[in-house]
Amino acid sequence: MSLIGRDFLSTADFTRDELTELIDLAADFKSGGHDERSLLGKSVALVFFNPSLRTRTSMEIAIYQLGGHPVTLDVGKGSWSIEHRESAVMDADKTEHIKEAARVLSRYAAGIGVRAFPEMLNYAAEMTDPVVRGFARYSDAPVFNLESARHHPFQGLADVMTIREKLGGLSGNRVVLSWAYHPKPLPMAVPNSFALIAAQFGLDLTIACPPEYDLGEEAMDEIKSASEANGGRVRISRDFREACGGARIVYAKSWGSKLFYGRGAEEIACRQKYRDWRIDEDVMATTDEGWFMHCLPVRRNVVVTDGVLDGRWSAAIDQAENRLHVQKAVLASIL
Ligand code: CP
Repeated sequence: MSLIGRDFLSTADFTRDELTELIDLAADFKSGGHDERSLLGKSVALVFFNPSLRTRTSMEIAIYQLGGHPVTLDVGKGSWSIEHRESAVMDADKTEHIKEAARVLSRYAAGIGVRAFPEMLNYAAEMTDPVVRGFARYSDAPVFNLESARHHPFQGLADVMTIREKLGGLSGNRVVLSWAYHPKPLPMAVPNSFALIAAQFGLDLTIACPPEYDLGEEAMDEIKSASEANGGRVRISRDFREACGGARIVYAKSWGSKLFYGRGAEEIACRQKYRDWRIDEDVMATTDEGWFMHCLPVRRNVVVTDGVLDGRWSAAIDQAENRLHVQKAVLASIL
């Protein structure tokens, strides 16, 4: 099947077979069994509204290894600030509208990658991914989501590739996505995307989180229907220690509360009750020879102990490496 010319905004837009093909191709790139220069003579624009270590570096290197040329823009720092609201009266601090920015960049580049986190102010509006989807609407070239308010599809794809490597397969394996304490409310893109792709591959998924940190209904509806369609299972647990018992994968991540969205001080007060939601060696010892996963960056001895992150359980560096390979697979397949 051909993926040429499609946007890559969420794994929900791709079938399980298409995602499997992408992971197979990523594995071929990783093993050295496949090499190609399909981006020779092409440029890809990478537009960052927010900081990054892994995404920025691995995208630039992926494009270079495919023979192409990355052009990275830091919005508002070296390139103009960008307005995305339709019909905005641009008399404040924004210099350029997304309509012109996307149209112009797509005249230069074969594809556009965009990272745009939520401002954590308006849940309903931000979960529509207005910036990344605005680029997709106005660009004539394919758009790649480098993490939006709602989704981080490259991370999800690298995550399932890592699970497949570690466990030898996907369907039916018991994985836990555990909320973790962090001093600040963080976006929900990584848990949304991990739970979604785990469901798309029929994993036996437990989402462990305090009641205030349930993922949004629209995300859960998408996750549950993907799980049903693919023979998986989704459960919610309020006890992360109990949930991790017997698990093959423990994926820790902190995220913000939908209930307190836009009310930062109340959110931070709420999360103080859950300071003990941290993955340590005792938790990992109860798993079924389980692997610890995290998308990184991670706060040591807050989200996870040094002993786990530096120990035999950790797959976090492999996960980060696999970002490079899956991005090469997606870029080569789409461009
Ligand atoms: N996991 C991830 O996307 O890392 P960066 O924020 O460093 O890109």
